[in-house]
Amino acid sequence: MKTSNTNKETKLDNQYLDNLKYKTPYYVFDRNKIKSNIDQFRNLLPDVSIHYAMKSNPHPEVLKTIHMHGSGFEIASSNELKQLVKLKVSPKDILYSAPVKSEQFIKEAYEYGVDRFAFDSLSELDKISRVAPRSKVYLRIFVSEHGSRFSLSEKFGAKLDSALELMEYAQKIGLEVFGLTFHIGSQAVSKSTWTYAIRTAANVMNILLENNIKIKMLDIGGGFPIEYTEPAPSINDICAVINKAIKTYVPYHVQLVIEPGRAIVATSAVLVSSVIARIKRGRNMWLFMDAGAYNSLFETLESQTSMRFEVSTSELKDNDKTKTTQYTITGPTCDSIDTMMRDVRLSSQLTVGDKLYFQDVGAYSIALANSFNGFAPPEAYFIN
Ligand SMILES: Cc1ncc(COP(=O)(O)O)c(C=O)c1O
Repeated sequence: MKTSNTNKETKLDNQYLDNLKYKTPYYVFDRNKIKSNIDQFRNLLPDVSIHYAMKSNPHPEVLKTIHMHGSGFEIASSNELKQLVKLKVSPKDILYSAPVKSEQFIKEAYEYGVDRFAFDSLSELDKISRVAPRSKVYLRIFVSEHGSRFSLSEKFGAKLDSALELMEYAQKIGLEVFGLTFHIGSQAVSKSTWTYAIRTAANVMNILLENNIKIKMLDIGGGFPIEYTEPAPSINDICAVINKAIKTYVPYHVQLVIEPGRAIVATSAVLVSSVIARIKRGRNMWLFMDAGAYNSLFETLESQTSMRFEVSTSELKDNDKTKTTQYTITGPTCDSIDTMMRDVRLSSQLTVGDKLYFQDVGAYSIALANSFNGFAPPEAYFIN
């Protein structure tokens, strides 16, 4: 397995994968990797509570591993809540950070005992106060997402000049003004964007303080990046930037929270998929795989060129590294867009039945998969 920036040791190297005899396509997850990714955050941000964003991978075995390792959760829906209820996760360890929710979902969470809800509008506050009276609310503010690969702020986040009005309204209708949150976009590779976002939140804290509103929680969201095939700052570097910005700008002590998704699970999994056809079309050599973007690697649809997974082949095929061919790697469905990567150099010898190994695919893969054309999402096997 490639050495990624979150954690270097793993058993999932190509030699190990070559010896597995499962029917392709399948994922192999390493539970130890999930645990060590959590530990890394604990070491680098010791005073910060971790709430895993379960949208990034809600596989029951992943959730169980994370729960057993003592992390909290961040949820966005009733079905996510139900999975946590099944695992007997305490409501005190759950944050409902989706800023827009149906009243029914808020009610279900409140009845389970969840008492912290994000919001970014007056109408959301009305909903919360109707079905979850006296709950703690935290305001999602808009921050710059400069440099981040996936945007989240077009849909969410209150503008800074409305923060005071929203918080005062929350107080007026009997909710506890509890905190602030932001999300700087997923795969957030710009260190200065992290600093800027924390400074922005600190400015809002100051405005609120001048108006006698003191918050208790600052939740800086997810967005922690992974080193796929392009360079990204390490988790070490990002956490150093965060620690410095908090020390410099945050005006008084608050409970700090992070909601990482990608950085907890991405490096824990490899996708193993077989070549079902090798066909030359025009100048392109196409490899048709038994797994595709639709049922396995959905994020490649959004970002085929800028965020690619490292892909390699069996040790046996890789003997002569000088003879390579440029391939287009596509999925098995009828759609042309069900294509994972273009211009990938791999062994010229690749043929039907050979396996490819896609690295660091634990995040937003299973979570986004569909069964279009009858190609079901791959099985997931767990080691350690
Ligand atoms: C509210 C919230 N928190 C956390 C996350 C996790 O982000 P990431 O996987 O980039 O860490 C997301 C992702 O969409 C989110 O919407």
